[in-house]
Amino acid sequence: MKIAVFSAQAYDKYFLDEANQRQAEPFNLVYQQASLSLQTVTFAQGCDAICIFVNDLLDAPVLDALKILGVRGIFLRCAGFNNVDLKAADELGFLVARVPAYSPEAVAEYTIALIMTLNRHTHRAYNRVREGNFMLDGLLGMTLHEKTFGIIGMGKIGRAVAKIASGFGCEVLGYDPMVSPEFAALGEMVDLKTLLARSDIVTLHCPLFEDNRHLINAEKLHLMKPEAMLINTSRGALIDTRAVIAALKSRRLGALAIDVYEQEGPLFFQDRSSDIIADDVFQRLMTFPNVLVTGHQGFFTIEAMREIADVTFQNLNCLANETNCPNAIVRT
Ligand code: NAI
Repeated sequence: MKIAVFSAQAYDKYFLDEANQRQAEPFNLVYQQASLSLQTVTFAQGCDAICIFVNDLLDAPVLDALKILGVRGIFLRCAGFNNVDLKAADELGFLVARVPAYSPEAVAEYTIALIMTLNRHTHRAYNRVREGNFMLDGLLGMTLHEKTFGIIGMGKIGRAVAKIASGFGCEVLGYDPMVSPEFAALGEMVDLKTLLARSDIVTLHCPLFEDNRHLINAEKLHLMKPEAMLINTSRGALIDTRAVIAALKSRRLGALAIDVYEQEGPLFFQDRSSDIIADDVFQRLMTFPNVLVTGHQGFFTIEAMREIADVTFQNLNCLANETNCPNAIVRT
């Protein structure tokens, strides 16, 4: 079977090729550095399936085009699927499968790395010391012990964050529309308003759906403590970035760390260092000393990359062997 792999970076190729060698019948993988859109969809010509990542767009027109090209399967190298029109994919008869979990601990540990960096300013200290500046002004942080972590989304990643936060001696509050004794064992489950009002650190670990787009908006920001930290390693559009900028400017939000950004598509996973970046909202964010932005790397560990590659091949084999696919989100 021939597979077009979109948004393929050198590291994707490395881990996918490594896993492909272990297959009884290796697949023919055709790598495209380009992300998938209506402009690039023809790269899938002659392929049985495509393999995509977080910023590949699978709206109805792209799905229609894939159908005409004879593609049968869509395989996500990620857990989130907000970039895929599932209804259209179902109507067109595609098999769509994802990697539901690939080291939730990797994302949880990265979330903590962002919190620690933002709180203790190690990124600023690193630069200062290299320039011979050993002043501590501006590097003041808070002791995390006994602070309150508010975790929105107590799924696999949220629970891994809760365990680490408990290890720091923090109080853990969780908000999740699902009720589970597993959540309650890790922290106090509260409603969203209570979580926002009581937390020193608010961290997002829920998927993005149409009904929770801009979950954190101006109104919710008003409920938070003015010195609170807001962390997002889930999906950019869970946060209304303009409202967050207004809150930071008026000192109604203490600090922000994001690994995802609502308009990340044209920026992330590319070297744009010699370009003039036209996104003024993103550029405004970059001017705040209390904002930390990274380019969607929460998942990026050796273990997670191996897991993504292995599960992607399990999913591909379901299409090749016409067997039931446990990781399907749309079944044919
Ligand atoms: P999961 O499916 O195990 O848990 C998600 C939880 O969120 C569920 O318990 C669900 O009930 C809850 N939830 C759904 N809607 C909610 C809402 N409106 N408010 C609060 N909670 C809500 O997912 P997992 O593995 O924990 O991943 C969470 C998210 O992290 C993914 O959807 C993805 O967007 C993001 N992610 C980011 C990565 C990165 O590299 N930065 C890597 C992997 C995932």
